[in-house]
Amino acid sequence: MGSAERSAQVLVASNRGPVSYSLAEDGSLVSRRGGGGMVSGLSAIGPDAGALWVCSALSDGDREAVRRGVGEPGVKMLDISAETHHAAYNGIANSVLWFVHHMLYQTPLEPVFDSEFRMQWAAYQEFNRAFAEALAEEAAEGAAVLIQDYHLTLAPGMLRELRPDLRIGHFSHTPWAPPEYFRLLPDDVAESVLRGMLGADRLGFLTQRWADAFTACCDTVVGGLGDTRIGVHGLGADADFLRERAHRADVDERVAELRAEIGQDPDGNLRKTIVRVDRTELSKNIVRGLHAFRQLLDDHPEWCDRVVHVAFAYPSRQDLAVYRDYTTEVARVAEEINAEYGTPYWTPVVLNLKDDFARSLAAYRLADVALVNPIRDGMNLVAKEVPVLAENGCALVLSREAGAHEEMGDDAITVQPYDVNATARALHEGLTMPPGERADRTKRLVAAATATPPAKWFLDQLDALTATAH
Ligand code: G6P
Repeated sequence: MGSAERSAQVLVASNRGPVSYSLAEDGSLVSRRGGGGMVSGLSAIGPDAGALWVCSALSDGDREAVRRGVGEPGVKMLDISAETHHAAYNGIANSVLWFVHHMLYQTPLEPVFDSEFRMQWAAYQEFNRAFAEALAEEAAEGAAVLIQDYHLTLAPGMLRELRPDLRIGHFSHTPWAPPEYFRLLPDDVAESVLRGMLGADRLGFLTQRWADAFTACCDTVVGGLGDTRIGVHGLGADADFLRERAHRADVDERVAELRAEIGQDPDGNLRKTIVRVDRTELSKNIVRGLHAFRQLLDDHPEWCDRVVHVAFAYPSRQDLAVYRDYTTEVARVAEEINAEYGTPYWTPVVLNLKDDFARSLAAYRLADVALVNPIRDGMNLVAKEVPVLAENGCALVLSREAGAHEEMGDDAITVQPYDVNATARALHEGLTMPPGERADRTKRLVAAATATPPAKWFLDQLDALTATAH
């Protein structure tokens, strides 16, 4: 492509893009738009202003869309071969880098770096190169490129070599591991990841803690940050979007359905509701959350028949056996609690394994307590979203290992995520919090949660990147 056709002024690059396609039975392509901070952030600029989102084709539908030349303005999907994508995404990104940053390796899930890993690592390099080449081809002279997350740690350095004129940013949506843990990676891989990211002018993290861990890794492995700048940008909840979306008819209907499922306590009042919403993800600590709920019923039998745990555990990364096993375990423990404590009139755990965004918003509206207890989490937006929508205010039980804790810890009930008994006590504290205190805390939680809505979060990064001298 000649330079005249290089027209994009602002580019975003991520594995998962804002739109996905599936093939209908009649052979037509059906598109589905995703949500999230990046989608609303980039829409603040839009394709007319020269914004372009480069992402992977993830499904057969996506690949077919690329082949047929179907697409949305402002989105470019890369048709990287299914094998390369599988090895880079499932092999390196989700089984290795995700596990390192969330510190999830423990017996028997130990890292094994063997020939299969080397094959996957080569695929990860190829995957990153495909992004770097596409970005180099599309970006206008001096354009700003914002590369996202652990799938694309090598792309900044590769792009820098191809296009030294560009302003390159990279943003990590995950935690970052401290050096002792990061160095579980083979030495050459650890070095490549850091050098790849340091190819950017500016790196963004969700909290100071993750930024500091990255800096410490660079000090230990590659002797420092060099000229690359670091910025902290905590993503906040999109209150306007949430409030509008959560009051549409489909959510109202689900509020009525959920109320019926939650049911009434012996005094005829709606039972109290403890809500959690997660991808079925090991770092989210869903099983320990269920054990804590069981412990609550055990320690405080007065809650029997008076509280329901509404847990959403959406399917995620089901190509990986460890995620499938985890989903089975979540369902098994929920059933066990229901068998042990339930009655014909009271189901203690209402578990939702099917993706239903409207139903989770309905649960947010009804929440008395939000349970957010990840082992480690970059930010955790659920912690920020529930207080915005909870109709009677809510108590937030929040892991100290979630990025959101840096901003909301003062008004949350803090838990150490491995401590099941302490989490049970925190749930009790949340359920019994006096209404005045709950209202006051919710108000402050909402203020903290909405301080940096997605559009501001995105534009702040863009401004900082374009202001970076290079
Ligand atoms: C995390 C990552 C995102 C990722 C999302 C869903 O939030 O930071 O980059 O898109 O999980 O995971 P998935 O593997 O389904 O894209």
